[in-house]
Amino acid sequence: MKKHIAQLLKVDAIRILVGKLRLFYYLRIRRNLKTINSEQSFEVTIMHNLKTLKVFGMNRMERIISPISAIESLKPESKILVIGPRNEGDIIRLWGHGFFNVTGLDLITYSPHIKIGDMHEMPFEDNIFDVVICGWTLAYSKTPQKLADEMTRVSKSGAIIGIGQEYSSLTHEESIELLGYNIVDEGTIRLNTVDDLKKLFKKIRTTIFSHDAPDKRSHNLKDGLINNPSSVIAVFQIDK
Ligand SMILES: C[S@@+](CC[C@H](N)C(=O)[O-])C[C@H]1O[C@@H](n2cnc3c(N)ncnc32)[C@H](O)[C@@H]1O
Repeated sequence: MKKHIAQLLKVDAIRILVGKLRLFYYLRIRRNLKTINSEQSFEVTIMHNLKTLKVFGMNRMERIISPISAIESLKPESKILVIGPRNEGDIIRLWGHGFFNVTGLDLITYSPHIKIGDMHEMPFEDNIFDVVICGWTLAYSKTPQKLADEMTRVSKSGAIIGIGQEYSSLTHEESIELLGYNIVDEGTIRLNTVDDLKKLFKKIRTTIFSHDAPDKRSHNLKDGLINNPSSVIAVFQIDK
């Protein structure tokens, strides 16, 4: 019954409404907003992400969650970690796919489902998650290898890792021209391909989904900030 009702959350309008109502309750009524800084993220990380705290309409996470939802060994009670959900949108989306044991981890929280903490030093024990998802968050790390090592540490052997990133051909100067600032410091190397993402993990057993920004759409100076930049997605199973 729970599963059938939760399936309603696959409908964009319902998921967005539930997300916004819950945000209103926790933010305005309970006044639950908390933030912390991380030395391994960038100066503008919190400011940049607070600007879009109320946005629930982006569908890019579906490219990670859909392939994960098709894996037969995962169950409604499988333990899932979402790194950098920003708001409850990713978590509610996972509920819609029938996963109910979901924890978020972020530098920003207002929700009982999002633990506050740094993805480079996660407040979790070793070997506890069946799935670790990191969507559009890795670019905020000065030390992606440290992040990947933490993802591996908290994952069980055989766990599923799902990572998604925006494809970008912008230079540092072009980012500043478009946004007024760059979300990363000058000189940061952008991981822009599925191979770049997979190389961070030592033992990959099987690749489940590989999506290497096939259309190579990027924000650019001519068109400005575009609505649908391409995605680089890797979903794979790790051994430990
Ligand atoms: C762009 S949002 C991603 C939101 C959502 N997953 C999506 O794809 O639409 C990136 C999130 O990563 C979080 N983040 C950045 N650095 C972090 C860190 N060191 N530890 C935990 N979360 C971090 C930010 O606060 C932000 O909420």
